[in-house]
Amino acid sequence: MSIHPIYPEILSRLTSTSSSSRILDLGCGLGQDERKLMFDGVKPEKIVGVDISQGLINAGYDLFMDRGSKEEDIITFVKGDILVEDPLKWAEGKLAEGVEIVHVGAVFHLFEWEQQVVLASKLATLTSSKEDAVIFGYQFSSPNPGVHMLGPKKEAKVFGHDKGSWTKLWEEVGEATGTKWRIEILEVIPDRGLVTKGNWGFVNGRLMRFSVHKV
Ligand SMILES: C[S@@+](CC[C@H](N)C(=O)[O-])C[C@H]1O[C@@H](n2cnc3c(N)ncnc32)[C@H](O)[C@@H]1O
Repeated sequence: MSIHPIYPEILSRLTSTSSSSRILDLGCGLGQDERKLMFDGVKPEKIVGVDISQGLINAGYDLFMDRGSKEEDIITFVKGDILVEDPLKWAEGKLAEGVEIVHVGAVFHLFEWEQQVVLASKLATLTSSKEDAVIFGYQFSSPNPGVHMLGPKKEAKVFGHDKGSWTKLWEEVGEATGTKWRIEILEVIPDRGLVTKGNWGFVNGRLMRFSVHKV
């Protein structure tokens, strides 16, 4: 998260004393980005990390050795499945009034188009009541938008985007949720090892850093 081009802007919003903005990190994994946000000055009560895997959240506590640390330093980590659950109900209602900032790193590319629409629609609903709502993150992308195979054995059928298809997805989500979104692609990186390492990524894949702003 911290190497995303809009991280300085996100940090400034989250640390501003005049703002009550909070951040949800969807698919937080080990929670390294939550710890980094706190290290960079964001109050832990403004940070919520959600992942489908309680095992990864627990492994994060073991890795960072901060389980049960001072109460004010405890970030909210929640086990949740964005495809089937209602994010407004996560964290004992902590998100019931919505959230201004969502990070979603390396999650969209795990799914096919229809699941991505579900995912994005839930994020749109979660943020829709907020001024200046922004959803940002990164994912594998492709100059050939469409169905791609992902994973070490290319076993997962997923949808890989370019800017055009990503914009179309958010148009579909906008129509379904009564919202409107402006898409920015901030970086498209041909190959920094992440994409081809272990033959994980798409053939001829890219790494795309995006932001999606509520209009
Ligand atoms: C590739 S990892 C990315 C982790 C982290 N965001 C990062 O950038 O390092 C994708 C994460 O999404 C989580 N995930 C997958 N499906 C999910 C779902 N339906 N709901 C919530 N989290 C999910 C996985 O458990 C995993 O931790």
